Amino acid sequence: MNYKAQRGTYDILPKDEVIWNKVQKSCFETAKLYGYQFIETPLFEDSKLFERTVGESTDIVEKEMYSFTDKGGDSISLRPENTAGVCRAFIENGLHNNTLPARLFYYGPMFRYERPQSGRYRQFHQFGVECIGDSTFETDYEVIDIAWKILKNLDIKGIKLNINSLGDKEDREIYIGKLKDYFKNYINDLPKVDKLRFERSPLRLLDSKEEITIKISEDAPKTLDYISSESKEHHENLIQKLEKLNSMDSSFNYEVNHKLVRGLDYYNRTVFEYTSNSLGPQGVILGGGRYDPLIKILGGPETPAVGFAMGIERVVNELNKNEVENNSHIDAVLIIVDEDLRMISQEIANDFRENKIKTIIAPKKSIKAQMRFANNINSKSAIFIGKNEIENNKISVKFLQSSREQIEIDRNNIEEIKAVLNN
Ligand code: HAM
Repeated sequence: MNYKAQRGTYDILPKDEVIWNKVQKSCFETAKLYGYQFIETPLFEDSKLFERTVGESTDIVEKEMYSFTDKGGDSISLRPENTAGVCRAFIENGLHNNTLPARLFYYGPMFRYERPQSGRYRQFHQFGVECIGDSTFETDYEVIDIAWKILKNLDIKGIKLNINSLGDKEDREIYIGKLKDYFKNYINDLPKVDKLRFERSPLRLLDSKEEITIKISEDAPKTLDYISSESKEHHENLIQKLEKLNSMDSSFNYEVNHKLVRGLDYYNRTVFEYTSNSLGPQGVILGGGRYDPLIKILGGPETPAVGFAMGIERVVNELNKNEVENNSHIDAVLIIVDEDLRMISQEIANDFRENKIKTIIAPKKSIKAQMRFANNINSKSAIFIGKNEIENNKISVKFLQSSREQIEIDRNNIEEIKAVLNN
């Protein structure tokens, strides 16, 4: 029996390390520059946590959760997203007693039983930020700006911000009524999936993938026409800041997208997504928004919040892999010219590693085969350990990538060895 990775899952191999590290580094460094701190929550939680926050009639909770009853009889789910877990941790650990807002970021695998396709997996990674404890539009801007800086640093082309406001809970209820009134006129034209949406989650009609529903949605009422004056002011102030960003940095583009509603129940006011030029799910690089009611729903004090999560696979796929230089993962392969010198080579290798020189001792083979090994693993250098060298307290360094010249260096002069290997 040949085992295969489960559908919608994949292996991250050593050759992928450089690009994955580059993305993670850009995310972490940018978040830290804005004063965000790392948080990590468990991969599984009480299923109810997601039912209450993401929403019982959302696709995620209805169809996509990996849920099971554990041996103690509790219903557990692998996390489909991390906002709920972060808010649970925020309350449970009393972070609301610290100075607010709490600025938090996370990185790790999420699980959704979705139909796999390009950019859509069943186990995928998210980097996310959550700013908890500030209701101003300035924090909406802050998280949108963080996302922009990350995507810009990574030089991903064709990025656009889509933004909308759903207003507050009461606004949303009024709006949903209007939306239903509108779609009622077309109910017989709607495909089956959308008739179901009409009943269960009418907002989702706006991001239907069905051609006929897309056409009908064109003239549907807009959320912005039904939100309260406070929500409207919040939205307009935010748009002004985005205009300013666009005037300072013309590569930043945004569009108010009336159909953007997002597929999770906890949002109020601002919702946003960054998209790339790619088609289908791959094109939605990250999504987020404000979720002021959520902490209270989970039993905490009323605490407004805003954040986003970015799909790491989608970012990695956008990057031109050839542009990321494939750094050699090894600095030196010790070539053992005389087998009697294996012991002393071990000492040299240890000495190198203590000095952060990445070192491998070549396998016990002919010198030619040892050299082939060093070349095949893309080492920066081959270092010959022979009787002559040891007697004179020297080593011979042969560069394998650039000049291919060979030089002798004093064996104890670690600084010089490091310098020639560019460490
Ligand atoms: P989401 O839109 O469900 O939002 O996911 C955020 C991002 O995760 C998506 O834009 C996409 O890049 C990536 N993603 C989602 N599902 C998949 C998948 N099956 N395969 C690959 N990538 C995927 C949330 O998760 C919210 N928690 C975001 C948030 C944070 N809102 C406020 N704070």
